[in-house]
Amino acid sequence: MKFFVDSADTDAVREMAATGLIDGVTTNPSFVAKSGRPIADLIGEICALVEGPVSAEVAATSTGEMVREGRVLGAIAPNVAVKVPLTWDGLKACRILTDEGLLVNVTLCFSANQALMAAKAGATFVSPFVGRLDDLNMDGLELIHEIRAIYDNYDALKTEILCASVRTPNHVKRVALAGADIVTLPPEVFPKLVEHPLTEKGLATFLADWEKGGQTIE
Ligand code: E4P
Repeated sequence: MKFFVDSADTDAVREMAATGLIDGVTTNPSFVAKSGRPIADLIGEICALVEGPVSAEVAATSTGEMVREGRVLGAIAPNVAVKVPLTWDGLKACRILTDEGLLVNVTLCFSANQALMAAKAGATFVSPFVGRLDDLNMDGLELIHEIRAIYDNYDALKTEILCASVRTPNHVKRVALAGADIVTLPPEVFPKLVEHPLTEKGLATFLADWEKGGQTIE
């Protein structure tokens, strides 16, 4: 399973990239707007920090304008994945941009049929939003199970399931069990994945015993 960072904060992305545990980055229009930086500069800097795909989202809503913006974004760096919304126009733009050789992430997916259509449009990635479904008392995890089952039914569907709106360690475990290809996480969630009170307790005991033994490792 691949791990992406869900952030346009370059310091946070740099820090996560240095761990060697990160396979890519996702951004969205809200993150880019918050940065206050021109999107081309920002995405160019992030693309230089990681080898893997960096999602940068179009702001247009018509196919023609999405394609135009997608070409601009795709020219920033070879590892840009152009993000388009899961609308009828977005799917048509996805097909055109994919056929031109660009990576495309179809975002704002909330149903299995939408994910099926993204795969038919040739998307490199589809981004189902787990947390936002949970926010509405719906089952975000069930959606990941459904998409996995549908994609596994057809060898021709090559789209990777990029779970977004993933906010807790429990979400990560459950989307991994559901067979997601990728999970994108806010930077602050990564350290929580390794925290366990028994690890802390066990380490404290080992170190106290070691101290009493008076040994050193040379
Ligand atoms: C995905 O690309 C989005 O940036 C993100 O995962 C949205 O998460 P949220 O629902 O917590 O805002």
